[in-house]
Amino acid sequence: MSAPAAPPCTLVILGAEGDLSHRKLMPALFHLTHDELVSEGFTVIGVARKEQTEDEFRQSVKRSLAESKEAGPVDEAVFARFARRLTYLRGDLDDPVTYRALRQRLEERERQDPKPQGRLVYLSIPPSLYPRAVEHLAQEQVAVRVRDPRAVPWMRLVIEKPFGRSLHTARELNRLVHEHLSEHQVFRIDHYLGKETVQNVLVFRFANSIFEPVWNRQHVDHVQITAAETVGVEHRAGYYEEAGVVRDMFQNHLLQLLTLTAMEPPASFNADAVRDEKVKVLSAIRRIPRNRVEEYAVRGQYGPGIVEGKPVPGYREEQGVRPGSPTPTYAAIRFMVDNWRWHGVPFYLRSGKRLARRVSEIAIQFRRPPHLMFPQEVGELEPNLIAMRVQPDEGISLRFETKVPGIDLQIKPVDMDFSYREAFSGPQHSAYETLLVDCMTGDATLFARRDEVETAWAVVDPIIEAWESRAPTSFPNYAAGTWGPPEADALLAPGHPRWREP
Ligand code: BG6
Repeated sequence: MSAPAAPPCTLVILGAEGDLSHRKLMPALFHLTHDELVSEGFTVIGVARKEQTEDEFRQSVKRSLAESKEAGPVDEAVFARFARRLTYLRGDLDDPVTYRALRQRLEERERQDPKPQGRLVYLSIPPSLYPRAVEHLAQEQVAVRVRDPRAVPWMRLVIEKPFGRSLHTARELNRLVHEHLSEHQVFRIDHYLGKETVQNVLVFRFANSIFEPVWNRQHVDHVQITAAETVGVEHRAGYYEEAGVVRDMFQNHLLQLLTLTAMEPPASFNADAVRDEKVKVLSAIRRIPRNRVEEYAVRGQYGPGIVEGKPVPGYREEQGVRPGSPTPTYAAIRFMVDNWRWHGVPFYLRSGKRLARRVSEIAIQFRRPPHLMFPQEVGELEPNLIAMRVQPDEGISLRFETKVPGIDLQIKPVDMDFSYREAFSGPQHSAYETLLVDCMTGDATLFARRDEVETAWAVVDPIIEAWESRAPTSFPNYAAGTWGPPEADALLAPGHPRWREP
C-alpha cells in the first residue's frame, strides 16, 4: 500500500546552495518526486546568494544528485519532472529585499493552479543566522502566525539542529520564534527521528504485548545506546569546533533514542501525546551536578590511527581545527532516569567520530536469572539482550542461551535476528523524506517540541559547562579506528560487562 501524495505546497529552502540542501534535501525531494509522494502543485523556491540562472541552479542540483549516495541513479525523466518544480531566487539572506522578493514570488505562485495549500520555509542556513532570518521572514510576512492547526493556507517553519547551543540560547530562539508563530507551525528537525528503526522502537514496544511487561527495572539491568561513526570531522571543522560531540549528537539524537526507549506508552499516537511522554522522561533524567561530571561522563578526542584499513590524521591535524583544540569528538555518559519504571537502571550513552565501526544501536540488557541450577562447569552465562540496530543493517535481535547439541551440557548464547532488508523489499525512504512529508502534512510527532528541546539542553548543559571550564589534559586520548578512550570502561558499574562492540 503506498502512501498518498503530500498536499501541494511551496517549499522555500533558505540556503539552497548549502551542504545540507545538496546532500540531503534535494536527494530526498528527488526521491519523493520519483515515488509520486509530492503533488502536482508542489514547488521549491531555492534561495541563495550565488549569482546564477534558474537553469544553472537545476544543473547544480543535478550534479549533486549524481554524486549523492542517497539519490541512486538519476533517471532523466524523473529529473525532468523534478526540475520543473525547482525555482531559484538569488538574494542575500541578511537583506530585507530578499524576503520582499520571496514574498512576491510566493504570492505569484499562490495565484496559480493547482493552488498550494501552504508554505513551508526550511532554514538550511548556519544557526547564527536563524534569529535574523526569522525576523525578516516575519517582517515581510512570509512567515505569519496561524492559530488553527487545521487552517488552510498554512505556514510552517522547519528549523535544523543545533537548536541553540545551550538552554539559555535555545530559550531565546524559542521566544523569538514564538513572537511570530504558534507551536504547531514550528518543526524542529532531528533527522534521527525519521530513521525507520527509530520509529520502530515505538512500534516494537507498543504494538506488541510481550516486551512491555519486562521493560522496566525489575528485568532490565542496563541500557547501552551507541552512535558510532567512522568518519572524522570532514569539512565541518568550523561548526564542529564550536559544537563538539555533546551538542552535536547527545542533546538531540542520543537523548531522542533514550526517550523513545524509556517513555511510558502514550494514550494515542498523536504529536502531543507522544511528546508529552518524551518530555516526562527528559524531566526525570537526573541532573548531573557540574562538579561531579567526571563520575558520570568521559570525554575523548581522536588522534591519528587506521580507519577501514587507511591511515587517517588526528582531530587536531584536521583542516580548520586549532592545533591544541579541546573539542571532544567522543563522549560516554551515564544517565539515570529517576522514575518508578527505571529507578537504578543506568542508561549508558556514547557517541564518537573515527570509531572502529559505523553503528548506531539501542541495547537493552536484561538481568541474569536469579538462580543458576546448572553445574559450575557450564561457566558464566550471558544475560538476555535485545539489540535494536538503527544503522546500518537495520534490525532487531534477541539474544538468549541455548543448549549446544551433544551429550554433555554446554550452554551458548544465540541471536534470533530480524533484518529489515530480508523481511521487507518495498521502497525505502530516507529520514529526510519521511520528515519532509510530515512537515507537508503537518504531523509533528517526529519533531522536537519547544519544552522537549529546552529540557534536553537542561540535561546536557552542566556537562558541556564543566568540560568547557576545564581544558582536557589528555587529548588526544583515543586512536582513530578504536572504540574510544579506555577511561570510558570505568563508567560501567563494577560487574557489568564492557561496552558492546557491535
Ligand atoms: C548529524 C551530526 O546531526 O548527524 C553529524 O551533525 C553526524 O556530525 C550525523 O555525522 C550522523 O548522522 P547519520 O544519519 O549519518 O548517523
